[in-house]
Amino acid sequence: MLDPYKIREDFPILKRKINNHPLIYFDSAATSQKPRQVIEAIKEFYEKHNANVHRAVHTLSQEASELYENAHEEVAKFINANGMEEIIFVRGTTEAINLVAYAWGLRNLKREDEVLVTLMEHHSNIVPWENLSKINGFQVKYAEVKDDGTLNYEAFENAISDKTKIVCLPHVSNVTGVINDVKRVVKMAHECGSLVLVDGAQSVPHLPVDVKDLDIDFLAFSGHKMLGPTGIGVLYGKRRVLEEMEPFHGGGEMIREVTFDTITRRCSISWNDLPWKFEAGTPNTCGGVGLMAAVKYLKDVGMENVKAHEETLTGYVMHLVQECKKVRIHGPKDASVKCGIIPFGVDGLGSHDVALFLDGYGIMIRSGFHCAQPLHEKFKLKSSARVSFYVYNTREEIHRFVDVLKETERF
Ligand code: ALA
Repeated sequence: MLDPYKIREDFPILKRKINNHPLIYFDSAATSQKPRQVIEAIKEFYEKHNANVHRAVHTLSQEASELYENAHEEVAKFINANGMEEIIFVRGTTEAINLVAYAWGLRNLKREDEVLVTLMEHHSNIVPWENLSKINGFQVKYAEVKDDGTLNYEAFENAISDKTKIVCLPHVSNVTGVINDVKRVVKMAHECGSLVLVDGAQSVPHLPVDVKDLDIDFLAFSGHKMLGPTGIGVLYGKRRVLEEMEPFHGGGEMIREVTFDTITRRCSISWNDLPWKFEAGTPNTCGGVGLMAAVKYLKDVGMENVKAHEETLTGYVMHLVQECKKVRIHGPKDASVKCGIIPFGVDGLGSHDVALFLDGYGIMIRSGFHCAQPLHEKFKLKSSARVSFYVYNTREEIHRFVDVLKETERF
């Protein structure tokens, strides 16, 4: 089992006091805190190995290149991909999804096609498809969510057809924490010849994810939500699918050759090998090194332990908030069907009021739409307050949180 008190020793920020209270960080779904192992890896990179990658024969460039490639390999092992060819480093989940939309969708989606997303999507898995449909003319369809926040699989099955070319869904909802049955959706999608893109922003940091077992075609996730730095994220793609795709961005690193034809006065260009074909320009090398340290940290803790810990904390909140008469939990109450994300409201108070009140006691939560307005509309909510946990949170913090929630009710 995971010992959050031991883990907390690795997180310098958790020693802070906010408004004279010990910091309680319940906003890890927005971004996680960073252990000293990650901070040290970044510091060491800049102090000892900094150079541009794949561009020079000098020692520093060789060292930086090796570290950057190792980072791809570590990530590949973490999600059980075949190797670094299937791991593209991007800025984050949003960029990964945009890459699929513009590098794959722009060329493959026709007017008569359909893209199927869900009503529990983060805006980043809606906006690129809606934008692209204005160019290519295909239809974006929305699969229904049940009143308890779980996916309506029967409706999903009815919505998939031979017209569906890509199905996009979150592995875990960033609003409710609901874990979707990705395997079930993949089976339906593949039977119709559709690809599947999974938004793993809230799953890869919190539970074991095996891309081969899930048989998904694309997986997008962010480093900063899994103990790594901001500005680095991952697009996993099946090698066969990536090989058939044209690049997203053009520039250095992603090309093999650019030759100028003096007759036509045009350049002919050939692409680099995977994954570099999709990583134009000087990459975020240091971000990759930080992400590698984060992945190693999570592997040491064990992803099964991370999941079990969050389930325990979630169950604990569900039990204790029963004492709060004005607190309403949205989405499923059963901790075993979700990750450590709990949206809630306090009767008579707006979500920002609740968040500000808790901040006064050193408790950091998120409030608003959480970039998922359609799901809030489905729940008939203007907004929600949201707590989200990670490896460093404790039962003691939850006790404190529920005590302050009782104060909020009185307020
Ligand atoms: N997508 C992040 C969240 O859910 C920012 O808070």
